[in-house]
Amino acid sequence: MRTHYCGELSAANLDQVVTITGWAHRRRDHGGVIFIDLRDREGLAQVVCDPDRAEAFANADRVRNEFVLRVTGKVRRRPAGTVNANLRSGEIELLAHEVEILNASLTPPFQLDDEVISEQVRLEHRIVDLRRPQMQANMRLRHRAARAARGFLDAQGFIDIETPFLYKSPPEGAREFLVPSRIHDGQFYALPQSPQLFKQMLMIAGYDRYYQITKCFRDEDLRADRQPEFTQIDIETSFLGEEEIRAMMEALVRHTFRDAIGVELPDPFPVMKYDDAVRDYGLDKPDLRVSLKFTELTDVMKDVDFKVFSAPANAANGRVVGLRIPGGGSLTRGEIDAYTEHVKTLGAKGLAWIKVNERAKGAEGLQSPIVKNLHAQALAAILERTGAADGDLIFFGADKATAVNEYMGGLRQKIGHERGFAEKAWRPLWVVDFPMFELDEESGLWKARHHPFCSPKDGHEDYIESDPGKAYAKAYDVVLNGWEIGGGSVRIHREEVQQKVFRAMKISADDQRAKFGFLLDALQYGAPPHGGIAFGFDRMVALMAGTEAIRDVIAFPTTQRGQDLLTGAPTPATEKQLRELHIRLRNWPRPAWRRRSHRRPWRRAAPAPRVRSPCACAQPWR
Ligand code: AMO
Ligand code: AMP
Repeated sequence: MRTHYCGELSAANLDQVVTITGWAHRRRDHGGVIFIDLRDREGLAQVVCDPDRAEAFANADRVRNEFVLRVTGKVRRRPAGTVNANLRSGEIELLAHEVEILNASLTPPFQLDDEVISEQVRLEHRIVDLRRPQMQANMRLRHRAARAARGFLDAQGFIDIETPFLYKSPPEGAREFLVPSRIHDGQFYALPQSPQLFKQMLMIAGYDRYYQITKCFRDEDLRADRQPEFTQIDIETSFLGEEEIRAMMEALVRHTFRDAIGVELPDPFPVMKYDDAVRDYGLDKPDLRVSLKFTELTDVMKDVDFKVFSAPANAANGRVVGLRIPGGGSLTRGEIDAYTEHVKTLGAKGLAWIKVNERAKGAEGLQSPIVKNLHAQALAAILERTGAADGDLIFFGADKATAVNEYMGGLRQKIGHERGFAEKAWRPLWVVDFPMFELDEESGLWKARHHPFCSPKDGHEDYIESDPGKAYAKAYDVVLNGWEIGGGSVRIHREEVQQKVFRAMKISADDQRAKFGFLLDALQYGAPPHGGIAFGFDRMVALMAGTEAIRDVIAFPTTQRGQDLLTGAPTPATEKQLRELHIRLRNWPRPAWRRRSHRRPWRRAAPAPRVRSPCACAQPWR
């Protein structure tokens, strides 16, 4: 149908007669001459139609935005002064001999080059949105990144093996999507949150190196960097230790960035212990572009008069930290109040501060609503530890450690990016040595911090049951510019260690069998030492594309509320479908007899009257 892509034409094609196809991006009528910018996935070409060719001109006259055209014509140089240096085809234009309308289009819901389009509208009209050059670039970037990763893994001997989506539903499995079985009345599959156990079983089965670029499903609260179905580059290898795995995996990340966007990431990636990351940045995925760091002050606030500081300083799980903002003395009251409001949205009760006007003058040289409540020793320690100089400001967070880490970490990130403390760079990082367990405050039980298959660090095996809080794992995350882009671990490969972990989590022997019997059995058939990682592929591509939302690098994403605005999913099932799946809905649509029975419980025993199906249009009364 065509000889060239629109965006491929250049001065090299001068005087050739070519045929191009594509969508009318813009049409302009310049008093007797019609210009059409024709667009295909490679870019734009300018088509000129003049009235000399009556048929072509008449067709061009009918063209509207997003009509699909086939144009044959001669490539000529654009007149001086009309060259568009931003386009590959910017030096030339096509003088149309024939213009054929292959299909018309309704007026699109937005112009493709509109700067600001609401996400709701974009997702409702995803087809038009996907035509936008930015989205076309994102999808091709995603393709290049996947190709690069596959190439690297293939060269390292990893083989691509698919694992099931219809998977065993673990009892009380949280955050899993369930799929009812038609054949087995009352039984369910789950969609896997990741292929974790399958890849471990592939190692036990002797495949040595596995990978898969695969969908994972999680029914969790969504955010800009989370989708209910997302893609992992999932990897597992046998007979490599933690450092060997990390070296190979950071080489994969470097290769993928180099190949997909030509960026050279640091070699090697710096390594930081989990405890140090939380101490200095309040979280396990610090954005190292931001230079600001916490200063630990819990120990110096134990005996100050100011209860806001001394109470958490003396509580077992409390923390007081300072955040020094160089030059922050110039912040106005209004600006400080705005930061206070911001941290309150992150759970803070307040945000104390001290401006250091003249450090040499001691308390006299400090300006702050709280200085009077702090004794000289505490003030000296604050200045000493933060290294504050004249003109600086120090913010303080005091509360439960988890709360302080959360809101002061958020404040560090916000101020860092707003006030010039963030460099423009790629700052990858390994965070290592995660605790194996964390205490669930509600139940008082230890639960796995990552998943219960991570191997303890050497020498930590005995803590698993005796003192779970002291047991650390051979687990590691890759962080890039504040995003967790991957996580993995060396796995437990001995059954008795795996059982210790389950016991520490108070999973009974029966539950162990019900949930993970297949794994415990597999571990008894000669499981090799193994480990791996999974990268959040959507996040990697979003970072490469420079976008905040992974939705921008997923062709058909859902909204923050898990809805697909294009197809309308999720939708109610028909009564017929539900019957086949042996399912009766509890609450919706709540039939009238149900509502009455709520008030008159004695009527509950009465046989259910016929209920109108949820999809009333498709189903008659039953
Ligand atoms: P984890 O749960 O850390 O590990 O997931 C690995 C990576 O997947 C990405 N990710 C997500 N991306 C988009 N939307 C989501 N809802 C979402 N959830 C996670 C993150 C994360 O780092 N089986 C283990 C890996 C292993 O131990 O090998 C696992 O799934 O970038
Ligand atoms: P108050 O005595 O409650 O008026 O607080 C005095 C100062 O301490 C104000 O600047 C508050 O914003 C700040 N503040 C209150 N609670 C906290 C807290 N938990 N952490 C840090 N600063 C706080």
